[in-house]
This record gives sequence, structure tokens and C-alpha cells, in this order.
Amino acid sequence: GFLQSGEVHIVGYARTNLSDDGLRGRIRAYLKGASEEHVSEFLQLIKYVSGSYDSGEGFEKLNKEISDYEMSNNSGSSRRLFYLALPPSVYPSVCKMIRTYCMSPTSRFGWTRVIVEKPFGRDLDSAEELSSQLGELFEEDQLYRIDHYLGKELVQNLLVLRFANRLFLPLWNRDNVDNIQIVFREDFGTDGRGGYFDQYGIIRDIIQNHLLQVFCLVAMEKPVSLKPEHIRDEKVKVLQSVNPIKDEEVVLGQYQGYKDDPTVPDDSNTPTFASIVLRVHNERWEGVPFILKAGKALNSRKAEIRVQFKDVPGDIFKCKKQGRNEFVIRLQPSEAMYMKLTVKKPGLEMATEQSELDLSYGMRYQDVKIPEAYERLILDTIRGDQQHFVRRDELKAAWQIFTPLLHDIDAGKLKAVSYKPGSRGPKEADELSEKVGYMQTHGYIWIPPTLA
Ligand code: BG6
Repeated sequence: GFLQSGEVHIVGYARTNLSDDGLRGRIRAYLKGASEEHVSEFLQLIKYVSGSYDSGEGFEKLNKEISDYEMSNNSGSSRRLFYLALPPSVYPSVCKMIRTYCMSPTSRFGWTRVIVEKPFGRDLDSAEELSSQLGELFEEDQLYRIDHYLGKELVQNLLVLRFANRLFLPLWNRDNVDNIQIVFREDFGTDGRGGYFDQYGIIRDIIQNHLLQVFCLVAMEKPVSLKPEHIRDEKVKVLQSVNPIKDEEVVLGQYQGYKDDPTVPDDSNTPTFASIVLRVHNERWEGVPFILKAGKALNSRKAEIRVQFKDVPGDIFKCKKQGRNEFVIRLQPSEAMYMKLTVKKPGLEMATEQSELDLSYGMRYQDVKIPEAYERLILDTIRGDQQHFVRRDELKAAWQIFTPLLHDIDAGKLKAVSYKPGSRGPKEADELSEKVGYMQTHGYIWIPPTLA
């Protein structure tokens, strides 16, 4: 109910020569689950303009198309959202064209906003250069640096979980938490994206952005309010408190077969797996390792946060321990939060075992459809809410953390060890987690409950 259907109009712009119907046909294939009537109605909102990324001619045409529509719909408003699904190398020229030819006219009520996708540079210097180029063309409140992990339901839930529950307040610190893992696993390789991927690697593709954003929400202090600037201020602060990464707290991997991709050079040292320990130098987290781990071509596909608590002091249950309290937030698939607990094993014996308190979304929210990350973030952009977008100083702080490590990898000073596709990744990564304190639970595994 937020936007009236007549108010939205979509114009595709690219170099390819295509008719309106050509573009509609391409999009149709992705619109599943809606009735034919809705699909046709939606497709009628779509137009296409072709042009290059650096010539005025195409963007003049684009502007004309948008203006004609705005005039015809008579609302007196002009709200223009540009979504750049482009290689970042052309961001500056495209933004310049938008700035010159396609801005929402000041004579009408409205705005101009631009969504950009990562990679925002390759390291601190290139990212800063890109930021200043875009900064000359648009105000910070017009630029939406998207990180789709911030649109995921359970990532959005982190603020509520941490700051609206008395239960967690006294526990969320170095006195009680032993270690925290933020893990991303995919069970497929680079699948034809090798050419792109090899330029970036898993740290730039996943860790420096998606996992680091999750890290911020897990580790930051309570913001003054929910205002986007207040939240982003806290994220910047915690990023700035991260110590330099130590080489001995990094494991890099590359899956066997990665270099078979013809677009990947034979001597590539690009990691497809990395496990990196971050240490936060502040009152809350001193001494607690944050293990950020991501890998492609592993044995499963999931993303989760694992907060592992310290052992109970003065244990009186002399039985063999299965594991520690661990609070797990499963971001995907099968969204859930569960807390591993030690309970009395039901029965006559006084024995303990590991069990869980389980909040599985599929069970608890059976009639709720969880929106796609992009769905929510595009709506945020239309609403002008930058809370879930990356601010310029935040991006800079993120690059500051990883740039020295990335430069060492690029210079071949750190090598990726090879691992079997379909495995857990290099065994060195498990050894690193263990070394910094993570304790694997034995003989217990949480199985996502399913509806009968
Ligand atoms: C993208 C990465 O940003 O995120 C991909 O470039 C990765 O390499 C993808 O596969 C994962 O997103 P999701 O939402 O499927 O976890």
C-alpha cells in the first residue's frame, strides 16, 4: 500500500539494442508465482532505452523517457531512483551522465537517488578514489551503497535481539562470551564467474562486506536511537576498534579445480576460502576472537552467527561434557535462532546432555512470507531510509581493516592452501578456530524442525 501501482514506472537502460517487449520478455521468465493478469499489468510499466555509458545522447533519451512519463502521470512529482547493476569501473562516467542529464527537475517535488553495488574498489586507496569521484556528483544522502546481507530478516533482527532483550544485555561481553564465529558457506564454486571472482577473491567478495556488516551489528554498542546516522555511527566506531589482522590468525584456501575455469589464470593465488580472526580493542570485547569464515565449494550452504559462551566455573556434573552454551543465529537457509543448552537427560539417571531452545521461523511464523533482501532494500531506498546502507566513512573503515592483508595476498606473501571441493575447507581453518578457543560440540547436532 506504500506505492500506488500507477506511480511506478521502470526504464531499463543498457548498450544492447532491445525493444520494450524484448526486455519484458526477458523479465517475464523470472516472475513466478503471480497470476498472468498481474504479470502483464506489471510488464506494461517497463520501458527500455539503449545507449552507451559515456555519451550524452543515450542519457538524453533516457531523461526524455522519464520526463514524458512524469508529465503524463500528472502528479507533479519526480522521484527518480537509478539502480546501477554495472561494473564499478563505469560508475563515475554513468553517474556523471545521470548528474548532467537525468536529475529530477527542481521545479517538481521529488528526489534523485542512486543505488550502487559492490565491489566499491579493490583496497583502501581505490575505494577512496571511487568515493570522491561519486562524492563530487552526489550528496551522501543520495548514494545508497547496497549490501544485501543487511536486508536479510535475521540480520535485521540483530538490533532488536540485542537491545530489546534484558536476557542478553549482561551476557554480551568478554566476561561471558568465549568466541564468536560468523560463517558463510556455499556448496558451489565460482560457476562461470571465475573471471570476475579471480580479480577479487573471497575476502573482497564476502568477508569485507557481508560478514563485516554482520560483525558490526553483533559487536557494536547500543546506538543513541534507531536513526540511520546513529546506527551507522556505532558501526564506524566498532570498525575503528578492530586491531590489525595477524598473519598467524588467517587461513586461506583455494578449492581444487578452481583454476580449471578458462578465465582463471593457471597460477592464481586467489582465495576461495578464508578464515580470519578479528580482535576488537575495547572494553566489551578485549580478548574475544571474532572468527570470520567464508568459503565456496564446501560441503553445505549456510550462513550463521555462533556466539559461544565460556565454561561454567566449578562444574559439579562430573560427566563427559558434550559442549558449551552456544547461541546460534541461522541467517539462511531455514532461518532460526537456537541456544544450545545442557539439560538433564530425560530418564532415571542423573545424566546431562546437550539440547536446545529453538525458535525456527518456519515453525513459529508459518503464515509469514519473509521478503527477499533486495525487495526490502529497494523499498528502503524509495522511502529514503539509509539505515541498511553503507556510509562512506564506514566503507573506508572496512577497507582499512583488510587492505594490508589483501596487499600481502596479492603480493604472494600469503598462500592459499588447496582443499577438496565438497569438503569442510582446509583443516588448518578448524585448527585455527580451536586454537583461539572454539570448542566443537560432540555427539549433538541441531536439525531444523520441519512441519509434519
Ligand atoms: C554475493 C557474492 O554478493 O553474495 C556471491 O558476490 C555470493 O559470490 C552471494 O554467492 C551470496 O548471497 P546469498 O544471499 O545467496 O547468501
